[in-house]
Amino acid sequence: MEPSLEAIRAEALGALADAAGAEAVNALSIRYLGRKGVVTQYLRNISSLPAEQRPAAGKAANAVKVELESAMKAALDRLAEGAGRPADAIDVSLPGRPMAPGTRHPITRIQEEICDIFTRIGFDIAEGPEVESDYYNFEALNIPRDHPARDMQDTFYISDSVVLRTHTSPMQVRYMEKHRPPVRVVVPGKVYRCDSDVTHTPMFHQVEGLLVDRNISFGDLKGVLTTFIHQMFDKATPLRFRPSFFPFTEPSAEVDIGCVICRGSGCRVCSQTGWLEILGSGMVHPAVFENVDIDTSAYSGFAFGMGVERIAMLKYGIDDIRKFFENDLRFLRQF
Ligand code: PHE
Repeated sequence: MEPSLEAIRAEALGALADAAGAEAVNALSIRYLGRKGVVTQYLRNISSLPAEQRPAAGKAANAVKVELESAMKAALDRLAEGAGRPADAIDVSLPGRPMAPGTRHPITRIQEEICDIFTRIGFDIAEGPEVESDYYNFEALNIPRDHPARDMQDTFYISDSVVLRTHTSPMQVRYMEKHRPPVRVVVPGKVYRCDSDVTHTPMFHQVEGLLVDRNISFGDLKGVLTTFIHQMFDKATPLRFRPSFFPFTEPSAEVDIGCVICRGSGCRVCSQTGWLEILGSGMVHPAVFENVDIDTSAYSGFAFGMGVERIAMLKYGIDDIRKFFENDLRFLRQF
């Protein structure tokens, strides 16, 4: 004798109530509702009943099939919910997650801002190697081997004659080897010095500038750098040119701006002087021109170099240079 429909139903629901996990429920689903399942088999057998009994028997069996299907689904949903997942995995009413598009690093932005100011007044942009020969980093810039001026910069040596460039000035020489005057160029890039504290990192950025033409005077240097500083900071920023020394420029000057923190009255940042040094500059030394075969009786020029981190620190009032390289998003998001 075959089990009655009611017996099958009761047995299935009983087993379902005892099912401990999704796997057990799935097994029951196959056992009763699968292709060779008990209910499926029962439905198939209806075709062998006398014709007048078929409609009622089919209707009853189908009702049990539907009931078991929804009981199985409900059991699976309950188990999923217990596992911490909502029965309906997608809640279309939830607000979307905002995307976090990347932004440019503050150093990159300041570097671009510096270059933009110079390109607006006719300068080109060039870049050069960070691993540099002793010749370009020192010798061609009138800094001979054993010259005390090499002590001004703590150099990372790769070998006896190869260094990590300590400044962007080697590009003055490389650029003039390839381009005859008139030359107007700025060179942004990374430089390296063996130095580390709140105002120094072993890698930092500089922007070098070089202008060579006929009749270029110190007045042109002052005019270009004054224009630059007034655009970079603001028109009211006081600046001064202070005599200095670099082996590759003569005369040389460092440029100071009035302290952006205390406005000149004296504070910790400007060491009570009211002034902040922001770049080195000078008229290109004849020895440098000779190294690139530029006729010093026909041409003259000036060069300058500035630290990008330093300008960023002054512009944004940041007191520790290392913050730029820690990649703390709370810091970086402020720019
Ligand atoms: N190279 C110099 C430095 O790193 C700066 C400088 C560049 C000075 C060009 C004069 C002319 O300190």
